[in-house]
Amino acid sequence: MVNVNSASIRAKLKDSKQGSINSLNLENLSEEDLLKIENEVCSYGDTVHYAEKPKFFKTCKDSYLYDTNDTPYLDLQMWYSAVNLGYNNKAINEPLKQQIDTLPQLACQYLHKEKVSLAYMLAKGVERNLGTKGRIHFNVGGAQAVEDALKLVRKSTGKSRMLAYEGGYHGRTLGASAITSSYRYRENYGEFGDRAEFLPYPYCFRCPYGKKVETCELYCVKQIERKFEHEYTGAWNPKSKKSEFGAFFFEVIQGTGGYVIPPRGYFEYLAKICREHSILLVDDEIQMGFFRTGKLFAVEHENIKPDIIVFGKALTNGLNPLSGIWAKEEFISPDKFGPGSTHSTFSSNSLGTAAGLAVMKEFEAHDYESMVMEKGRYFLTRLKDLQKRHKQIGDVDGLGLALRMEMCQSDSFTPDRQLADKMFQLGLEGNLQTNGKKMGLILDIGGYYKNVVTLAPSLNITYQEIDLAIDLLDILITKSK
Ligand SMILES: Cc1ncc(COP(=O)(O)O)c(C=O)c1O
Repeated sequence: MVNVNSASIRAKLKDSKQGSINSLNLENLSEEDLLKIENEVCSYGDTVHYAEKPKFFKTCKDSYLYDTNDTPYLDLQMWYSAVNLGYNNKAINEPLKQQIDTLPQLACQYLHKEKVSLAYMLAKGVERNLGTKGRIHFNVGGAQAVEDALKLVRKSTGKSRMLAYEGGYHGRTLGASAITSSYRYRENYGEFGDRAEFLPYPYCFRCPYGKKVETCELYCVKQIERKFEHEYTGAWNPKSKKSEFGAFFFEVIQGTGGYVIPPRGYFEYLAKICREHSILLVDDEIQMGFFRTGKLFAVEHENIKPDIIVFGKALTNGLNPLSGIWAKEEFISPDKFGPGSTHSTFSSNSLGTAAGLAVMKEFEAHDYESMVMEKGRYFLTRLKDLQKRHKQIGDVDGLGLALRMEMCQSDSFTPDRQLADKMFQLGLEGNLQTNGKKMGLILDIGGYYKNVVTLAPSLNITYQEIDLAIDLLDILITKSK
């Protein structure tokens, strides 16, 4: 039973007992009422209360969310890239509805054809695009798939120490937090004996070494190479030829870190260093996978072959959660990773696999590679035009439809978190006027200094909607600075 200390809410709910509520008649409650209840019964531990005033939405379609007054909000973040194919997409929803009518539930110890078909499409996709044979293991959330990758690395190498990047984000379970750079996520949770060693990411706009990308000759990756030059760096024994690290966990484009795109050739060099020192390459594609960058997996832009790929989010277009890992046969073959090596009740659930299969079929039916690259180029060109009009935009960059816009002070460099925050809040208020219409704009702010607008629109966004996005961003920046 819920105790809500508001006489007005109790009156609306026509309580029989003073001060207590047996069931909520939602129709009677205003947003303000629901907020009061939320304030009392929901944990603040998730991210809802990052917003000054949490927002309710009622419906969604394609690139838009609609609030309770039916005001449209153009979404340029699509649930942190979990809804790559647009909201309420029939091509995914219909197969899911059919699955509900046929086999909505099945314990993961039994097989259903959608699981096998989806694993086949993913494994064959990696084999076709990267030339490596492997297997798929499903789980439910991104961080859980990261945990599975960690287990596989530990089992394969016997090592529990990992390398990862400053600015990297891999989730908030204990294992994933240990390889996620923010101490903020570990601070209150005791000792992390298996905490990764975090190395600077190639963030050229703010090079951690103060170099210029045109002349640096990949100085940053050479600093990583230095770690293995002799035994006194604390990472490498040249006699046994063993390193202290099992794997390097990386994002090809940092997601939460601010859609940072490394320079050409960087990952090839890094992969060579890791190979030479028997460090596995674990590619976290949870945010950049499923054509966000114009490829099934972003790593296909680089000339490297990871040992493990971790995926989640957009696999089901934001419907029933499903995540997983792909791993090279030599690490995940049945003799190496046998039955029960890892498991979760809902892994490979029938609804998630049906949605995932529908998503993969969409990618097969349409040329997302060309569409995303073309739209991405157009969006980036328009962002560059916008940058010319606002010196507060220090940097814009993008690969496919993963785009970044870094908000700065008027020197175009000093990070301006306040400006980015104000844009985020104003967009969420839903009061922007354009073409005689009232609209909102959904943004996400990321980056090391929380000043980067990370843009991940629907892959089905139209060119007119990209123009609209630029108009709305223009209004937001003008109003916020
Ligand atoms: C790159 C990356 N890895 C891991 C995760 C964690 O995934 P989840 O939130 O589904 O646990 C995220 C989530 O944002 C992510 O972006």
